[in-house]
Amino acid sequence: MSPQSILFVCLGNICRSPVAEGVFRQALTQRISAEKARLWTIDSAGTSDYHAGEAPDPRSQDSALRHGIDISQQQSRPFERIDFEKFDHIMVMDSSNHVNVSRLTDVPSHKQKIHLMLDASFPGENRPVPDPYYGGEHGFENVYQLLAEASEKWLDQWT
Ligand code: 4NP
Repeated sequence: MSPQSILFVCLGNICRSPVAEGVFRQALTQRISAEKARLWTIDSAGTSDYHAGEAPDPRSQDSALRHGIDISQQQSRPFERIDFEKFDHIMVMDSSNHVNVSRLTDVPSHKQKIHLMLDASFPGENRPVPDPYYGGEHGFENVYQLLAEASEKWLDQWT
């Protein structure tokens, strides 16, 4: 399949979606080679601007790094309406992200780009990637595991 453009979205763009971006990029690279993966556009954003300009939460950075993925250079940015034009797939972490993104457009083809990230692993169950922000380390490892599995399943569809 031709290169795709994928945007991962959560609330703050400091915990879940930065890990999603990093995990997905690594999974893609391992599947199709670094050279081909560079042709894809992979990014993340938040539905809020609470943490705009910040690096990922240190706990997310540690969790990704334990799995060999460096996300330290990412910077939080808010989702913008233009993202509906720029990206083929908008992968949200939970249903409140879904509501917040979807109310920014009336265009049906834009709404169709929005998918719950865990729908590939648990079809039809509306499962969230749980927000680990207020919890402990285990929450971050759980997020990593959920995102790694879901990334493989989406790649089964997109490559
Ligand atoms: P994220 O986690 O949406 O996975 O980045 C959060 C980060 C920050 C806040 C909430 C969730 N916050 O309220 O500041």
